[in-house]
Amino acid sequence: TDLDHFITHLPKAELHLHIEGSLEPELMFSLAKRNRLDLPFKSVEEIRAAYNFSNLQDFLDIYYAGAQALRTEEDFRDLTTAYFDRAAADGVLHAEIFFDPQTHTDRGLPFSVAIEGILAGLAEAKAKHGITSELILCFLRHLDEEAAFATFRAAEPWLNHIKGVGLDSSELGHPPHKFARVFAAAGAAGLKRVAHAGEEGPAAYVREALDVLHIDRLDHGNHALDDDALVRELAERQITLTVCPLSNVRLCVVPDISAHPIDTMLAKGLRATVNSDDPAYFGGYVGENFKAVARGRKLSREQLVTLARNSFLGAFLDDATRQDYL
Ligand code: ADE
Ligand code: ZN
Repeated sequence: TDLDHFITHLPKAELHLHIEGSLEPELMFSLAKRNRLDLPFKSVEEIRAAYNFSNLQDFLDIYYAGAQALRTEEDFRDLTTAYFDRAAADGVLHAEIFFDPQTHTDRGLPFSVAIEGILAGLAEAKAKHGITSELILCFLRHLDEEAAFATFRAAEPWLNHIKGVGLDSSELGHPPHKFARVFAAAGAAGLKRVAHAGEEGPAAYVREALDVLHIDRLDHGNHALDDDALVRELAERQITLTVCPLSNVRLCVVPDISAHPIDTMLAKGLRATVNSDDPAYFGGYVGENFKAVARGRKLSREQLVTLARNSFLGAFLDDATRQDYL
């Protein structure tokens, strides 16, 4: 349709994408075969049928299990190039992607395997599609502070290839302040700071992410809407929110797409963006996320342009490159 065409060709940046969450069942199967692994599933259909989540933890259990199919640098490169082929088809010009090193180092892979494979994929995507990218290292918040510090130390040789640090995994019971010191160390090393907050957790976690972690960007932020003073501050400071509509529906953060607050966020002056989070698990890449909110919330073309433009305003680009994209 006309709307689909408009969305596909809208220049956009993706700012909230877990590369491990782009592992499609077909690739999971072929990696398992290549690595001679036994998957707990017999078919692609059986895998997809298991993707029925009632909350964040339900999803995370399956997501960490799926990541076990990734064993070699080549696996991580193939994963990354597959994502960028999809992103190119969706009109993505720039992507800032997350990776979860602890998911891999905790099962014995050296830190180098994941990052070298991903970096090879990023270089290939630039050569093939012209897509620019940045890499954000996420700490798993269900693990402790010392594990995050160990991960940060392991990343040391690659810091010039890492734009920032993030915080993901199980939110409830793992407030941002648990990682205050490692975020301070990352800031001192010149890295940007982002954190998942207000996805399942309360507005108070968003407040902590701002005041204690000193984040440069907020991942999700849905529950910030429960605190008017917080919303005013986010709007005044023009903090970018990386919102993930299909993820929110699939993880029951919102009851359905017609109840998604994306346009409420815009109306309150928040710099909201649209992103895919874990597209292989949630039923669509960034284009599908735009289409879902465009239809579900009857967004105008102007609102869609604002959302796409916000993605470049919120990207960690230098001013000249940002101007080129805008
Ligand atoms: N890891 C991957 N996707 C995530 C999400 N939506 N929330 C928290 N951690 C995640
Ligand atoms: Zn996420």
